[in-house]
Amino acid sequence: MISYTKQPHEREYRLIFKNIDREGWDPSIGTYMSDGGYDDLKKAFKMAPKEITDEVKKSGLRGRGGAGFPTGLKWSFIPPKNTKPVYLICNGDESEPGTFKDRYIVHQDPHQLIEGMIISCFATGAHKAYIYLREEFPEAALIIEKAIEEAREKGFVGNNILGSGFDLEIYVHRGAGAYICGEETGLIESLEGKRPYPRIKPPYFPAALGLYMCPTIVNNVESLCHVKHIIRMGGEEYSKLGVTRNTGTRILCVSGDVKKPGYFEVEVGKVTMRELLYDMCGGPKDGREIKAVIPGGSSSKILKADEVFKLKNPDGSERELAFWDIPMDFDSLAACGTMAGSGGVIVLDDTRKMSWVLNNLNAFYAHESCGQCTPCREGSTWMKKISDRLVEGNATAKDIDTLESVAYQIDGRTICAFGEASSWPVEAIIAKFRDELLADTKPEGEVESNPEAAAQKKFLVETQ
Ligand SMILES: Cc1cc2nc3c(=O)[nH]c(=O)nc-3n(C[C@H](O)[C@H](O)[C@H](O)COP(=O)(O)O)c2cc1C
Ligand code: SF4
Repeated sequence: MISYTKQPHEREYRLIFKNIDREGWDPSIGTYMSDGGYDDLKKAFKMAPKEITDEVKKSGLRGRGGAGFPTGLKWSFIPPKNTKPVYLICNGDESEPGTFKDRYIVHQDPHQLIEGMIISCFATGAHKAYIYLREEFPEAALIIEKAIEEAREKGFVGNNILGSGFDLEIYVHRGAGAYICGEETGLIESLEGKRPYPRIKPPYFPAALGLYMCPTIVNNVESLCHVKHIIRMGGEEYSKLGVTRNTGTRILCVSGDVKKPGYFEVEVGKVTMRELLYDMCGGPKDGREIKAVIPGGSSSKILKADEVFKLKNPDGSERELAFWDIPMDFDSLAACGTMAGSGGVIVLDDTRKMSWVLNNLNAFYAHESCGQCTPCREGSTWMKKISDRLVEGNATAKDIDTLESVAYQIDGRTICAFGEASSWPVEAIIAKFRDELLADTKPEGEVESNPEAAAQKKFLVETQ
């Protein structure tokens, strides 16, 4: 029986986080191998690369980085007649607000990631792999670099790995600290030493035209770790975890207004919103009520705690699903008009003012836009300026309409999905909390005609 410094909740199913906060565990290769580490790699080398991809397809694994795209399918997009080098990139940027899972893997269990990556490289024919880490993870870079050297000493990295004839080098690359470096094509540009300006898709789908214009697989840290468990269990057995089309386990990161926030690894879709927030996180703080949840990182659309959704059954009939009964899986959250995204569940209780939440999100996206396309660069800044006015008590009802119109003019009109990431929260908050926002506005005649000058005056008075 494994003991932990913080005991996992009884509803958890620990696959990826088995070793996180485990008593007596350290990130060394000795500890990892004493627990069966690298046995799955040995098993994988006895398989043909295509067999591994087939097992990953059978497992139903969907990417844990945000979009939930099927991993095996992504791998099979590498052009079959490709003659160029293939690269694999592990996306360890973990930049989506509300998400804090990958950091535990790279800090505490780096060999699990390296083993998953070696198997994935063998399957996809990549002989060079990169682990892209966000700037704010300096210690993780040192831990991973040490782990790669340990793996090399044991013959798991380098030339002719375990006598298989397969060669692989793994490099660590640190970003400079920008949200957009998490977007896969921005990440690739950054890795090439340029500004992380996302590339337009098509034609730059990384599996065909990625790093140095060669086929490149970009996968999230957690996704790559799952690969080793799929090889150990077999794709079919793995697919029995979770629910249909939403298989395996995933780590949910709960932050905000609950008694016991934290990370929880659960079978996908086997836990509802109520079970997660009440049974696992202890419910709201005393005397408060949960008002809303942002379920999949800050860019997912907000859900109201009193919402009831009308969903279509396969036979065309309709059924109702209350917010509290939503299973935490990709398809259920999508059917409720939002997304499972990166697994970052942000809880807001009745003390949170929606104008403040809106402004907080707008400030983040205005700061992080790479500036390459006009709707995003200008629009995200306008949205921030309008919501600044709202929290300063200087907005009119018309400003809410303008804000909504700006959001819809960004959505779908940009090079990368940052456009949607910044506009979806605004669209959803206005649609669901319009009355609350309107209560923070003033009639035309009562607002400052030049709020920026007024704010400057206020600042000067306060700092004198
Ligand atoms: C603005 C933006 C930021 C993103 N940030 C991350 C990130 O920090 N980590 C990540 O794994 N994926 C991030 N993604 C998704 C990646 O582009 C990509 O889809 C993902 O790394 C693929 O891995 P997966 O298939 O294993 O999920 C981001 C996407 C966008 C649009
Ligand atoms: S949508 Fe925004 S972040 Fe993405 S390329 Fe355009 S300006 Fe840059």
